Amino acid sequence: MTKDVKTRWYKDAVFYQIYPRSFCDSNGDGIGDIQGIISKLDYLKDLGITAVWLSPCYKSPNDDNGYDISNYRDIMDEFGTLDDWKQMIDGMHQRGIKLVMDLVVNHTSDEHEWFKQSRSSKDNPYRDYYIWRPGRGKNGKKPPNNWTSRFSGSAWEYDETTNEFYLHLFSKKQPDLNWDNPKVRQEVADICNYWFELGVDGFRCDVITYISKTEGLPDGKFNPIICGDEKFVIGPHYHEYMHELNQRAFSKYDSMTVGEGQGITVSNAESIVAEDREELDCIFTFEHQEADAFMTVIPKKFNLKKWKSIFSSWQALPDNCWNSLFIENHDYPRSLPRYGKLEYRKYVAKMLAICINFMKGTPYIYQGQEIGMTNIAGFKPKDYVDIVSKNIYKIAKFFPPLIPVVVWALQKRARDHARVPMQWNAQENAGFTTGTPWMMVNPNYKKINVEESLADEDSILNFYKKINKLRLGNKIIKEGGYTELMHDNKKLFVYTRELDDKKYLVVCNYSSKCATFKIPDEFKELKSNLVISNYPSTPTVLQNTKVLPYEAFVYELTK
Ligand code: NOJ
Repeated sequence: MTKDVKTRWYKDAVFYQIYPRSFCDSNGDGIGDIQGIISKLDYLKDLGITAVWLSPCYKSPNDDNGYDISNYRDIMDEFGTLDDWKQMIDGMHQRGIKLVMDLVVNHTSDEHEWFKQSRSSKDNPYRDYYIWRPGRGKNGKKPPNNWTSRFSGSAWEYDETTNEFYLHLFSKKQPDLNWDNPKVRQEVADICNYWFELGVDGFRCDVITYISKTEGLPDGKFNPIICGDEKFVIGPHYHEYMHELNQRAFSKYDSMTVGEGQGITVSNAESIVAEDREELDCIFTFEHQEADAFMTVIPKKFNLKKWKSIFSSWQALPDNCWNSLFIENHDYPRSLPRYGKLEYRKYVAKMLAICINFMKGTPYIYQGQEIGMTNIAGFKPKDYVDIVSKNIYKIAKFFPPLIPVVVWALQKRARDHARVPMQWNAQENAGFTTGTPWMMVNPNYKKINVEESLADEDSILNFYKKINKLRLGNKIIKEGGYTELMHDNKKLFVYTRELDDKKYLVVCNYSSKCATFKIPDEFKELKSNLVISNYPSTPTVLQNTKVLPYEAFVYELTK
C-alpha cells in the first residue's frame, strides 16, 4: 500500500538486529529459523525495541550466510517458508515492531537464475546483468584489472564456458551485478516494491556504496590487500542510481533505508544522506570501528581519543542528516572485551549502553549485546566457519611463520565471535537448539544467558530495558544539541545534550582505573538530578567526584 508521507518514524526507533541463523532454532536442525524468531517476539517487545533489522533470510546457498542470494522473492529453506515470514511480520506489527530487511543487491549468488543464464553464453539476454570481461596477457588468462576481492585474492574469476572473467568484489560465488544496465536497476526496484507490498518497513542496504564502477574498469592504486576502492566506492553514477531507486521504490512508502557505508567518512556523509537528496535516509559509518583496528582487521590498542573524535564529528552532522548508532553487528567481534576489561563485564556493557544511547541518532542492539555476550576465549582455527576467517587462515598456511600472528588476529577480530548462537538459557546448547548447532556455542553460556539476565534485577538486559524506555519520546536525546567536553581526558568521554533550557551531562569512564571529574564552571549554578548510572553509589546530585572503573552517569541539569 503506497503512502505518500514520510513520517521518518526511524528517528524515534530503537532497533534490534537479528542474525537469523544464530538466533533461535525451532525445529532442532541446528540452524536458527523464522518460527524461532516468532517464539521470541514477546521477548523483543519486553526489551522495548521498536524495529528489527533482519539479516538476509532469502533463498541462498550460504557461501556467505545469506549474503549470497539465489532468489530474492522467497525464503531460505532452512529458515522456513514465505507463510512463516508473513506470520512473523504480522506478529511484529501487532507488537508495534517494524521490520527492515537486508537488501543485498551489489551482487547475487552465482546460483541465482540470472547468473546461470548470464554465464551460459555471450549472447544470452542476461549476459549484461553481470560484469564480464576478457582476460589480459598473451593467453588471456590474467584478470582484466588488479582489483581485489574484499574476501582476499583477485576480484575476478575465470569462467571457461565463455572464456571470460566475471567481477566479484566478495566471494567468487557472489558475482557483482551490472548496475549500468537499466534492466538490473528496474529488477532491484521491483524486488523492493515486492517486499514493500508484503508489508516491510524498509531496507538495510548491503555494501550499497559499491554499486557504480568507474567506466572502463581501470586498475586501482597498487595495494596487495585491498585494491580498487577508489574506482567503485561512490562511483560515477552512484547518486543517480540511488535517487532513481528512491523514486521508484523507497519514496513510495513510509519506509526507512540505512546504507552500509563502506568508504564513507564524515566529510562526504552529507552528500549520501541529506534528506533533500532523496537517496538513503541514513548510513552505518565504520570509522569508529577503527579505534582499535587498522583497516578494521589488524588489531591495535583501543584509542579513546580517536573514538571520541569520530563520534563527536558524526554528531555534528547538519540537521538534514541522521546518524545510526551501533557498536556491534554480525561483521565485528563483540564489544566485550574490545572497549573494557572482562572482569568488569557488566559495568563496561552498561557504560557503553549509556555512552551510545544518549547520542543523537537511531540506536541498534545486536542480538546478544543486551546480555553482554562476549568473544569466545581460545577460538581454534578449526572452529572458524566464516568464509573470511577461513580464507585468511588458508593464506597463512602458505607462509607458516605467519600462522601465530593470524591466529592472534582472528582471536581478536574474527566475525565468527558475533555469529555464535544466541544464549537463551543454561541448558544444553544454550537453549538455542535441541539439535547440533551449526556453529559452536560460547562455553560461557551457563553464566551469560537471557534466562539468568531476566531474573537478575541488576543485569545488563534490565539496564537496556530501562534505557530503551528512557529514550523513547525523549526530545533532548532526539533533537538536542551535542557538545563534547574534556576531550583531552585520557579516561573519560564526556558530552552534553541540550534542548531549550534543559541539558543532559553524560560522563563515561572507559578505564579500569578511577578518574577525576570536576564540575565545569558553567554548570556550577545549575540544579542537577541523576537520570541513570551503572553504579548504585553514584550520588543523586552532581558533585566533583572520583569516577569509578567503567562508571557512567547522566544528570539532567536545569536552571
Ligand atoms: C556486508 C555484510 O554485512 C557482510 O556480512 C557480507 O559478507 C558482505 N557485505 C557481502 O555481502
